Amino acid sequence: MNPRALFVELIQIVGSSKAKALITSEFGDISRLWMRDRIDEQIWFDLLAKARKVAEGEPLEYVTKRREFMGLSFHIEPGVFIPRHETEELVEYAMDMINEGEIFLDIGTGSGVIAISLSYYRGVRGYAVDISRKSIEVAKKNAEEHGVLERITFIEADVFSIPWVFKEVDFIVSNPPYIPRSFLRKLPRDVKREPTEALDGGEDGLDFYRKLFVDSLDFIRGKKVLLEFAPYERTGLERLLVFREVEWYRFMRDLAGVERFVEVLV
Ligand SMILES: C[S@@+](CC[C@H](N)C(=O)[O-])C[C@H]1O[C@@H](n2cnc3c(N)ncnc32)[C@H](O)[C@@H]1O
Repeated sequence: MNPRALFVELIQIVGSSKAKALITSEFGDISRLWMRDRIDEQIWFDLLAKARKVAEGEPLEYVTKRREFMGLSFHIEPGVFIPRHETEELVEYAMDMINEGEIFLDIGTGSGVIAISLSYYRGVRGYAVDISRKSIEVAKKNAEEHGVLERITFIEADVFSIPWVFKEVDFIVSNPPYIPRSFLRKLPRDVKREPTEALDGGEDGLDFYRKLFVDSLDFIRGKKVLLEFAPYERTGLERLLVFREVEWYRFMRDLAGVERFVEVLV
């Protein structure tokens, strides 16, 4: 079986960028495909099966089981949120905000990308909490792969049921669930395959922020907080911060120039 024919067949099923991603996941690099004279029948068969799954709406990362984030490669599985590129910008801000020796709390760690990037690049320690058992399993595996497992305490819990954890930390960072419930059924079909608890932000998308700044305010006083949010929620979020009389806040833009992150001194 010849490599070019395989590539063409994959492109016909999923388009060229996803075909390249599938090939890379198999061979490590697209150029390694061209170095082969022929492709093993089993590999051919497996790649076509994966391409068909993607064409049927399965997220690419659930098929390749990998996602690049901040220059690191992370293991991903169905049942775990797939990290987005915007969140790399959240991590860039977080790396500037956290000082040496400070302890972080990553709420809703998912595959662990925020906590692991912070520990890996800044050498800091912290807590990573997620309500999903699968996420904590995958995040621990990723932390081990990147050599930072002993720097991060992973906890499977609803963070609002363990308020003591807020007291232990200096810096809180999160990319929480923030999609308004009525939007959930309009999401693209691949996004719909991601876990609902990672997406569902309640009626107006602001449930998480209310729990943090209303129910948990006394626990997070004096802490630095950095959060991602949906740009269309900016007004509601600002209203909440003003109403709760937080000490100081500022909205920050992503690379597309859209306000997507907020830094708060509580
Ligand atoms: C949007 S995902 C973000 C995952 C990861 N931080 C990232 O950026 O790729 C939100 C995560 O929060 C978790 N989560 C939702 N509510 C939670 C809660 N009350 N306590 C802890 N984790 C929660 C979900 O399971 C999910 O993994």
